Amino acid sequence: MDLENVSIIGAAGKMGSGIAMLISQEVAKLKIDDPDKIYRVNLIDVNERAMDGLHKYIKTQATKLAERNIVSLRSLYASHSDLIENSDIIDAFVNELLGVIRYGTELEVARNSQIVFEAVIEDEPLKLNLLTKLNHLCAKGTLFFTNTSSIPIGFLDNQVGLGGRLIGYHFYNPPVVQKLVELIPSDATTDELKSIALELGKVLGKKLISSNDIAGFIGNGHFIRDGLYAISEAERLKTKYGGAGAIYLMNRITQDFLVRPMGIFQLIDYVGIDVFQCILRVMSKHLQDTTLKSQLIDDMMAKNVKGGQFADGKQKDGFLKYENNKPIATYNIEKNEYLMWEGLPSPEWKTKIDTELGNLPNGHSPWKKLLNNPKKADILSTYFSNLRQASGLGAELAKNYLAESKKIGLKLVKDGVANSEADVNGFFWAYGPINEYI
Ligand SMILES: NC(=O)c1ccc[n+]([C@@H]2O[C@H](COP(=O)([O-])OP(=O)(O)OC[C@H]3O[C@@H](n4cnc5c(N)ncnc54)[C@H](O)[C@@H]3O)[C@@H](O)[C@H]2O)c1
Repeated sequence: MDLENVSIIGAAGKMGSGIAMLISQEVAKLKIDDPDKIYRVNLIDVNERAMDGLHKYIKTQATKLAERNIVSLRSLYASHSDLIENSDIIDAFVNELLGVIRYGTELEVARNSQIVFEAVIEDEPLKLNLLTKLNHLCAKGTLFFTNTSSIPIGFLDNQVGLGGRLIGYHFYNPPVVQKLVELIPSDATTDELKSIALELGKVLGKKLISSNDIAGFIGNGHFIRDGLYAISEAERLKTKYGGAGAIYLMNRITQDFLVRPMGIFQLIDYVGIDVFQCILRVMSKHLQDTTLKSQLIDDMMAKNVKGGQFADGKQKDGFLKYENNKPIATYNIEKNEYLMWEGLPSPEWKTKIDTELGNLPNGHSPWKKLLNNPKKADILSTYFSNLRQASGLGAELAKNYLAESKKIGLKLVKDGVANSEADVNGFFWAYGPINEYI
């Protein structure tokens, strides 16, 4: 695999900056191994202000990385007798890493790249336009990796005329931390590119799951429909609990009753309501499925409430309001204000909903506690067996949700998006949607 000249387009964005960091660290190691060779990682973005943030991000991350990996760096620098203290090694590595990077706002910088990562916003015309320009600019052997969350790879390849030199390489957010990468070859993707993509996964220490090239793929094929189900449930419950109450309620069902890392509305905020809307549009168009739409998502966008993160990683308000990245209130779209969860006395609306939801069934353990518990499977099995037997609003909504989520997962296999149930379940942490709990 040739990493001598790599470009990342959209490098100052959430995903691009993480991909930039992952690639730069590998290239820096190669440079230490072979100092005479010229390596370049070109970080390209049109947003000048964000580029300033990117400089800082890369430097901070490189330092943290070097501190964490001091033992392996010491062996990498074994022949450098002048590097004695840990701080010498850290400084040398950070300089090495910063030294291979070139920043630019013009695509021209990518001209000599053997590999180009595309991570600009999820906008089909923009991605087509950029890939077309890059195809004219770069050599005919250049390979392209796109981080698209939903646009079919074969469609992009065919429209641009890349002749199989494009593969979907769908990192999860944040790319430096998340092990999962969804790999999406199209029918056209060359064997050479497929094997390079697999090799890169190994080098970066990622867990690759292959998806077939159908809009939304496995990850968003499940997430978007799961989110739409939560929205439809919230709409149904709105008359009784109010819009903000129903969102709070469904968020609690998904996080607490279903033992997930975060509630579904927090997850939609994390991904970005704007991104959710973009993916819906792409999936609806390519799958010709008019049910893939949401009035509530469109209304939130019309109010300019979008979620997502600030450049420093802090969560922006969306369906929920955040303080130190923790949700503290729910958005009331009619009044354009947030309904606080806490207060003195505790808000009446919340107490009413929590009481109606009822207690969590016996054996419940929060997701975080379960994660590294070797008895995770037993604990979950006991908990969900208790949930099955429980009654009350919370248990009933949770059972319906489990069943719907499973149905979505099974349909992904039936429709040939996923090759197996295990591939669908591989996207989830504590347990996958295709399970025996329901
Ligand atoms: N955010 C997520 O959780 C997530 C997860 C997985 C995949 N993705 C996918 O990754 C891609 C990027 O998403 P993001 O969330 O990082 O978006 P983002 O908005 O944070 O970053 C996009 C970057 O692209 C830059 N850009 C826009 N037009 C450009 C151009 N013409 N040339 C160069 N740079 C340009 C922007 O300035 C911005 O810095 C999308 O395809 C998205 O679907 C996002």
